[in-house]
Amino acid sequence: MDLQELQTLAKREQEILSAPCIRCCTVGGCLSANALEVKKQIEVAISTQALTPPIQVRGVGCMGLCSRGPLVRLDPSGILYDQVTAESVPELVHACQETLQSNLPKELPNNTPLSLPQPSSYQPRHHPFFTLQHPIVLENSGHIDPKEIKEYMANKGYIALYQALYDMTPSEVIDQITQSGLRGRGGGGYPTGLKWSTVAKMPPGQKYVICNGDEGDPGAFMDRSVLESDPHRVLEGMAIAAYAVGANQGYIYIRGEYPLAINHLETALRQARKQGLLGSQIFESPFDFRIDIRIGAGAFVCGEETALMASIEGKRGLPHPRPPYPAESGLWGCPTLINNVETFANIAPIIRNGAEWFAGIGTDKSKGTKVFSLAGKIQNTGLIEVPMGTSLRQIVEQMGGGVLDGSAKAVQTGGPSGGCIPVHAFDTPVDYESLTRLGSIMGSGGMIVMDQATNMVDVARFFMEFCMEESCGKCVPCRAGTVQLHQLLTKICEGKARTDDLESLNQLCEMVKDTSLCGLGKSAPNPILSTLHFFKDEYLELMHNKASDDHHSS
Ligand SMILES: Cc1cc2nc3c(=O)[nH]c(=O)nc-3n(C[C@H](O)[C@H](O)[C@H](O)COP(=O)(O)O)c2cc1C
Ligand code: SF4
Ligand code: FES
Repeated sequence: MDLQELQTLAKREQEILSAPCIRCCTVGGCLSANALEVKKQIEVAISTQALTPPIQVRGVGCMGLCSRGPLVRLDPSGILYDQVTAESVPELVHACQETLQSNLPKELPNNTPLSLPQPSSYQPRHHPFFTLQHPIVLENSGHIDPKEIKEYMANKGYIALYQALYDMTPSEVIDQITQSGLRGRGGGGYPTGLKWSTVAKMPPGQKYVICNGDEGDPGAFMDRSVLESDPHRVLEGMAIAAYAVGANQGYIYIRGEYPLAINHLETALRQARKQGLLGSQIFESPFDFRIDIRIGAGAFVCGEETALMASIEGKRGLPHPRPPYPAESGLWGCPTLINNVETFANIAPIIRNGAEWFAGIGTDKSKGTKVFSLAGKIQNTGLIEVPMGTSLRQIVEQMGGGVLDGSAKAVQTGGPSGGCIPVHAFDTPVDYESLTRLGSIMGSGGMIVMDQATNMVDVARFFMEFCMEESCGKCVPCRAGTVQLHQLLTKICEGKARTDDLESLNQLCEMVKDTSLCGLGKSAPNPILSTLHFFKDEYLELMHNKASDDHHSS
């Protein structure tokens, strides 16, 4: 394929896609809420009526407000219908028809039986869940069919790869990524351009590019959603990275629990190869790059980069000490670039729109946007993408619609490696530095909102149980320390601890943090340390209850 063919194909597809269309989310949570049946019923309803203008029906990726799925959107008006059931399809199709004819949004008549979820309709630009969002990574999610490469092409797909190959040298590509200020979205926030330049500077020879799609944090589903909704974006980002660092082979490491994402990736890989956008002589240039999928068995530690590479090599997924870093000696001892799914998903827009455009979004040190999976005790849960620097209060109260019952107590960010941020700190901007100052981390994007009824010691125990079970056992501080920390927390939760146990808890946390081999053990104490810092009264209360029980029984 050359540029002209790509542009012709894209233009033809844009015309087809601009016609009236009902787009149904057919991934993730909507799929479990019967979205395929809803889509089928819509197709049946439309095929039995001679509609003017005709309406197409398409399956697309995640539209964001996953908790109210199945979601359906009427384009070009953009009106969203949520909690659509097969029973409400006739009214929905009728409302869509009227909207198209009058150009005025038509509400759904509320005659769904009360035993079923009640659908509602709204214009996203007026809905608080959407108004603060800035979709870059998610720009195509919910708009294109992830199984159709043509739909990706119609939305500027693969243009950035062409630009990189024909208008830029590898070092110019790296300069753009460096100047954009993009930092790794897998948790650590390491500068992406710096990582790329380290791999590029290694002597020519076999090099690899790996996309980390392991996503093991409880409650996180950002990467799954990106891969299900817009897989070509990740492939394009990886191909640009490979050109920049001089690699000819890539791997996507993804957990087996994500069958739909794997399926969409396989389809995308087949289509990209067929169009000459992956494989030999990409875009008829001398650049070759192949991508293969490697499926993980779902161990949290396999998301850690050295364990992940061991797993790809066919060994047990155990971490090993760094240095050497993967950029110098990674897969099979060769220089390897490893980035997260969301990091790669940012690459094509940066090349297309320029580093300055990206650097203009976000804060001084955290550029661009961040995708979060917003979960917990709030009204609106789902997938959001906000500029870095958006406050926790805006996310929880405005976008999330506040706590379901009562008021918020804290937000947990960063999963088992992160911490709990109390409500009095909700005006904090969400960026790498601010969250670290509060004893938490940005992490890969899990965000769980907790209400006043939540017991924070129990939260710490939940995450410690997770780390204890996921510890690979290679080093003693983590293998034995997580078990002891869990035992201490259980003792406290059960009201069996004494005040000096708190001191032991603190000391053990510091020891596990300082002496564990990999990030799992080093960060496992974070949920305890942050709850001890902000919610020490809850620990003390459990201890005082014990002291008063002792007093009464003596
Ligand atoms: C226990 C553990 C689990 C991790 N899981 C993931 C993961 O699921 N996805 C990911 O991208 N990074 C994960 N990381 C971070 C990776 O080791 C690595 O830093 C990251 O993939 C680099 O990509 P980035 O620079 O684009 O963030 C994990 C780290 C640790 C210590
Ligand atoms: S810190 Fe934990 S997960 Fe990491 S190597 Fe040691 S035992 Fe394994
Ligand atoms: S999965 Fe359907 S809206 Fe997110």
